[in-house]
Amino acid sequence: MHESVLLTESINYLNLNKKSIIVDCTLGYAGHSSHILKQIPNGFLYAFDQDKEAIKEADKKLKQINNNYEIINTNFVNIKQEIKKRTNEVDGILFDLGVSSPQLDESKRGFSFHKDAKLDMRMDQSQSLSAYEVVNNYDLNKLIHIFKNYGEEKYAQSIAKGITKQRQIKPIETTLELSEIIKNSVPEKYRRINHPARKIFQAIRIEVNDELNVFEIALKDSLQLIKKGGRICVITFHSLEDRICKQIFKEVSSIPKELQNLPVIPKQYEPKYKIIANIKPTEEEINKNHRSRSARLRVIERRA
Ligand SMILES: C[S@@+](CC[C@H](N)C(=O)[O-])C[C@H]1O[C@@H](n2cnc3c(N)ncnc32)[C@H](O)[C@@H]1O
Repeated sequence: MHESVLLTESINYLNLNKKSIIVDCTLGYAGHSSHILKQIPNGFLYAFDQDKEAIKEADKKLKQINNNYEIINTNFVNIKQEIKKRTNEVDGILFDLGVSSPQLDESKRGFSFHKDAKLDMRMDQSQSLSAYEVVNNYDLNKLIHIFKNYGEEKYAQSIAKGITKQRQIKPIETTLELSEIIKNSVPEKYRRINHPARKIFQAIRIEVNDELNVFEIALKDSLQLIKKGGRICVITFHSLEDRICKQIFKEVSSIPKELQNLPVIPKQYEPKYKIIANIKPTEEEINKNHRSRSARLRVIERRA
């Protein structure tokens, strides 16, 4: 079961009315989408996901609510062309980034370092790059870069060296093999704090699915797709995703630096967007759902 994070808050910030046209970029198991669909009986929901298994389950749920929705089975990086084919502008867009609990729990997907599986980690099972290629074919420097930047791992270098040394003997095939190599590449003391494979698996997942690049492209395109008064809600689980969101929102909602001291800002330089919210889950939610502990919700509105 996937427990949606910041559910009430994100739905409230979308400011839904009966006729709203909404895009859910990360349908998953339709936790957010079911609530949205219930509140827009005369509107429409477009929902993206690149994972066929999630789509099958989500479709079953949504069907029971209404039929005013379309699931678009592609990467949300294609949001602009896919939405433009269907409509001009929308009232709200939601991103709830990362992987869902069923993706993590399903051992054969290879996302979890606790469960033995082939190295995979593709959200879109039809793409060719998988964790196997990253772990077995990327050169040492590229691995260090990924572990440092996407995993924010201080032992990036020794872990990358551990991997490249081991794969000379034989290819690294499974999640548990990889997890063991990671564990053996860091000092004993460090292993006791947190399982060192957690950050490295996250880093590999980000690389396999190109998560930061696709999010940045899609978020910039989303700003162009919302109507005046429309909103974008973004739930992130990783400091790098959050940084991308924060910077883009800041850029489009601020007055250019060189004009900030003018007594009156000429109309054409007034920011077109305003920041509405930047919140974290309550302690109560974190206690109930541990996955929410690193979540953050940012909301922006296109000025009328
Ligand atoms: C955290 S889950 C969403 C959960 C959903 N909001 C719910 O409450 O049930 C993220 C979902 O987005 C999908 N996803 C992540 N990145 C994607 C991308 N770039 N394009 C399309 N789908 C993506 C994943 O496959 C996963 O199903």
